Amino acid sequence: MTPLHKARAIVIGGTSGIGASVADTLEVRGVEVIRASRATGLDLTKAAALVNWFKAQGPFDHLIVTAGSQAPGGTFPALDLDAAGAAFDVKFWGSVRAVQAAIPFIRAGGSITLTSGFLARRTTPGTFTKTAMNAALEATVKLLANELAPLRVNAISPGLTDTEAYAALPADKRAAMLSEAAARLPAGRVAQPQDVAAGYLFAIENPSVTGTIVDIDGGALIA
Ligand SMILES: NC(=O)c1ccc[n+]([C@@H]2O[C@H](COP(=O)([O-])OP(=O)(O)OC[C@H]3O[C@@H](n4cnc5c(N)ncnc54)[C@H](OP(=O)(O)O)[C@@H]3O)[C@@H](O)[C@H]2O)c1
Repeated sequence: MTPLHKARAIVIGGTSGIGASVADTLEVRGVEVIRASRATGLDLTKAAALVNWFKAQGPFDHLIVTAGSQAPGGTFPALDLDAAGAAFDVKFWGSVRAVQAAIPFIRAGGSITLTSGFLARRTTPGTFTKTAMNAALEATVKLLANELAPLRVNAISPGLTDTEAYAALPADKRAAMLSEAAARLPAGRVAQPQDVAAGYLFAIENPSVTGTIVDIDGGALIA
């Protein structure tokens, strides 16, 4: 396993939800973690600022990107393509920008772990943006794992996970949505952020894992 003690990791999206749990999981293992998001002054859509931000961080070992949970839904004929493009700009292009800006600073033996989502490979009407955006990210992960080798590049693909991404829903609607989803899933539960964070730890630690998409979705893809 890649030793984590005293490693440095950057978690973009580390101020909330899955990213915060990844940051906690790494810190418990002695990793120095830099948690970044717009709340800390880092916006993945601002390319020049992103490059300067990585220069200011200096060398580090592991890049994790979990940012970009919002995307417009609705039937495709009526989909707001500008809103879809804006979602792509954060999650897809933002991840790509972060990887490109980070590469010069990632030490030998380091890794990159991006975030997809189960809709990448589950065709569900009304989810064009998430499906297309996450499928593009998964293809990118495999290409970059090949092109950037020996730097390892992976993605974690969460299923429905109980995070702040659903904070805008009224509490009763959120609870009903989560329990209905849990009842449909083979695992019988919706993931907690810690369940998903364990997948990032696996991808970061295991020196033989690259070009891999790790599904942590309660079985959503086989239901
Ligand atoms: N939760 C689920 O059910 C689920 C299911 C499948 C896939 N996923 C994927 O898992 C990832 C994490 O989701 P989550 O549920 O943990 O979401 P979350 O709780 O909403 O957290 C998203 C994080 O991204 C940051 N962020 C958003 N826009 C940003 C920007 N332009 N620049 C920098 N940081 C930005 C947010 O902080 P600021 O607002 O401060 O910028 C926040 O820290 C996402 O990629 C999501 O698509 C989640």
